Amino acid sequence: MDVRATTEAPAATGSDTIAVGVFEDEGVAHDLPGGDLSALLDAGEAKRGFRKLALTHADGRRWLVAGLGKREEFDPERARVAAAGVLGRARELGARTLCWELPHHVSEAHASAFAEGTVMGAYDFRLFKSGPDEDDGAEPVELIVSAHHDVSGPVETGRVVAESVNLARDLQNRPANDLTPTALAERAREVAGRHDTLTLEVMGRAEIEAAGMGAFAGVARGSEEEPQLITLRYEGPGASGPVLGYVGKAVTFDSGGISIKPGNKMSDMKFDMSGGAAVLGATAAVARLGLPVRLISVIGATENLPSGRSMKPGDILRARNGTTIEVINTDAEGRLVLADCLAHAVEQGAERLVDIATLTGAIVTTLGTTYAGLMGTDDEWCEAVTAAGRRAGEILWRLPLHAEYAELIKGRYGDILNAVENRRAASVTAAQFLRRFTADVPWAHLDIAGTAWDTGKAYAPKGGTGYGVRLLVQLASAASP
Ligand code: BES
Ligand code: MN
Ligand code: ZN
Repeated sequence: MDVRATTEAPAATGSDTIAVGVFEDEGVAHDLPGGDLSALLDAGEAKRGFRKLALTHADGRRWLVAGLGKREEFDPERARVAAAGVLGRARELGARTLCWELPHHVSEAHASAFAEGTVMGAYDFRLFKSGPDEDDGAEPVELIVSAHHDVSGPVETGRVVAESVNLARDLQNRPANDLTPTALAERAREVAGRHDTLTLEVMGRAEIEAAGMGAFAGVARGSEEEPQLITLRYEGPGASGPVLGYVGKAVTFDSGGISIKPGNKMSDMKFDMSGGAAVLGATAAVARLGLPVRLISVIGATENLPSGRSMKPGDILRARNGTTIEVINTDAEGRLVLADCLAHAVEQGAERLVDIATLTGAIVTTLGTTYAGLMGTDDEWCEAVTAAGRRAGEILWRLPLHAEYAELIKGRYGDILNAVENRRAASVTAAQFLRRFTADVPWAHLDIAGTAWDTGKAYAPKGGTGYGVRLLVQLASAASP
């Protein structure tokens, strides 16, 4: 979708559809040309409540009157939701050019959010559909954001971020027979090829094994597909501040391995690469925006399958940092992949770590699809990550990493266990496991098993949500002076 900002009045843009917002506690800023917005509101045909939407015609075009609720509650997240709602209706109505009149006195973050919500709301995964969808209208070809002052910067940022979210969603939604670890690395190569500021390095099975990454290699053993340890290095113009390390779990299919999962909904385990998708999407956005930071992105891509070569319960693996791991459950594979990826990111120079992973079913039970789980070691860093999430509309809830939880993963024959048999505190013990590979670098672990797909948000259709892209971009923006 083309997206641009203008200081022209909406009616002067020639758009066939114009969206205007109305707050609950305010009069209308101005009336529709030749129409009567106040009368529509008074008659109750248009409503001011958040997410309410009314259609009218005036001045030879369509007007969508969008209820925005109370002004003090209208944060950027509400702008994303409102924008996605309007886009959906505009599309049904066959709009070709949609112009949003930016509400007066809102921030640049709101201007970004209108663009983000529209572009994310327009997402549709049709890669494997043979024809067009008859039930659904065509996407408008153009979004124009009209404001009295120049908002082209924030609008462009919103577009870039949303396109990167959609890039992550495409990766998530592609099935495991299409999006293999090699295909994911191919996509990373394309992204890296577009920017002089990005370099790419990919390790395959032989290199992963030769580097002593026995935890990652242990997971990959059961699969015929070549595992890929993908490292992207970004050096922004005039970069300063600590080197950021983003680490993503990209298990392109998680069957559980020998500790095989039940068949019900196993197909959803194609989404077990969502953390890696978020890291790649965020890295692409950071490079496109040219943020002045240094970033090392590490994506651990493999399948987790049962076969005659698979790792087995009871096996002991030696990770890159020397830690030995007793495999209690081969379905606790994400932490094994991340163990070596985290150690690798530290070795490569990361000074602030974030890992992002669909790591535990327990986080879905705990927080549902509303919050992702946050666990970490450095309060200041965890607070920075939480704040970035809040600004991005991807909210986090922190769980405690009490030392007692580390007791639960003490090994019997090796240093640590990859799972707790009685499933106590499953999300937190997983984090305690990861902590062993962070070398005391400030670290935040995001468990996105509940937020990575099917969250039912207005701007996220069924399937992958791209959760984490916006947060990680925000975090990189905040890290740049
Ligand atoms: N990928 C799963 C976690 C998951 C489950 C994500 C459901 C989304 C929905 C992960 O690899 C896994 O299987 N975790 C196990 C760990 C357990 C064996 C300690 C889990 O959560 O059951
Ligand atoms: Mn698993
Ligand atoms: Zn998994």
